[in-house]
Amino acid sequence: MLVLGIETSCDDTAAAIVRREDDGSCAILSNEVWAQHDDHAAFGGVVPEIAARSHVERLDGTIERAVKKAGVSFADLDAVAATAGPGLVGGVMVGLTTAKAVAMAHGLRLVPLNHLEGHALSARMTEDAPFPYLLLLISGGHTQLIRVTDVGKYDRLGTTIDDAAGESFDKTAKLLGLGVPGGPKVEAAAATGRADRFNLPRPLLKHEGCDFSFSGLKTAVREAAQSIKNPAPQDIADLAASFQEAAARHLAQRTEKAMTLMPESGRLVVAGGVAANSAIKKMLHQLCAANSWTLITPPPKYCTDNGAMIAWAGAERLAAGLAAQQEDALALAPRARWPLADPHDGGRLGSGRKGPKA
Ligand code: KG4
Ligand code: ZN
Repeated sequence: MLVLGIETSCDDTAAAIVRREDDGSCAILSNEVWAQHDDHAAFGGVVPEIAARSHVERLDGTIERAVKKAGVSFADLDAVAATAGPGLVGGVMVGLTTAKAVAMAHGLRLVPLNHLEGHALSARMTEDAPFPYLLLLISGGHTQLIRVTDVGKYDRLGTTIDDAAGESFDKTAKLLGLGVPGGPKVEAAAATGRADRFNLPRPLLKHEGCDFSFSGLKTAVREAAQSIKNPAPQDIADLAASFQEAAARHLAQRTEKAMTLMPESGRLVVAGGVAANSAIKKMLHQLCAANSWTLITPPPKYCTDNGAMIAWAGAERLAAGLAAQQEDALALAPRARWPLADPHDGGRLGSGRKGPKA
């Protein structure tokens, strides 16, 4: 099954061609990502209107390159999958409308997808990740612990009550004047810093459950930064390292709680842009080793937003007989909010509204 995947929910314009073999394995034939960092750099963050315009300008060229590099033609494709939400709705609109046009022009199945499902299944493209597994999804917009039992079967065990993990990295980078993209800049600065210099809070340590909170950490970093007059590069590096360590510790502490809720799994999959962070991976590795669990992390280029994971999730849905009817798919409107694992939604195309970070 040959699928074109289109991803435009934030600031990456992405398209990829993926083939799902009959034995369930995955071949990524191309994976084109146009990162819009330069378009937004002057504003210190992603500007939704600029993102949507950049997607309009670059998406068809990106798709063309993906098709060409894969050595296939549109006539060879079986389906086109596209992110239909959640995300910046202007960008989602561009990707979904383009996917509809491609599907109609070439007589292909259209699979509108929840972006989070793309992240949730992304590890299965390149790693041995059989169901069930515990998923720690850490990206710019989401921080969730999800029990993944099958394609389309997701139960949310925990979510952030304020900022997402990636958002806290981005805000910390801005506060420390490190520029964009925030996560990698904080990681680079932290490499020469002392993580034990600042004593940052441990969020929700005494709280039951698996929810996350990052806003207190962000405030503590700001206060620590303000307490230093004319911070030198070493101060910035120490702050970045202390923040990164505190964030990693918080993620590991909440994940450990979720592990006790599905001891039968023994597998932790980490996905989303923040999963590219080595310090976080190291801490999760220690956690898994201590509990005799296996840690599964896709390569960084499949952790951050990409078209391959969308194509793959589309292929997995089609293979499982879970893709929406063509008529419904073509009629589907983009959605700014769309919880993956709402108990009433179950990852289907139904409606769901639950909290700003749902
Ligand atoms: O999954 P993703 O590409 O987009 C969303 O769906 O949000 O994640 C982007 C987020 C950004 O907040 C970015 O700063 C963060 O992932 N990120 C990192 C690293 N690389 C990307 N955070 C920490 N360390 C990194 N190396
Ligand atoms: Zn994402």
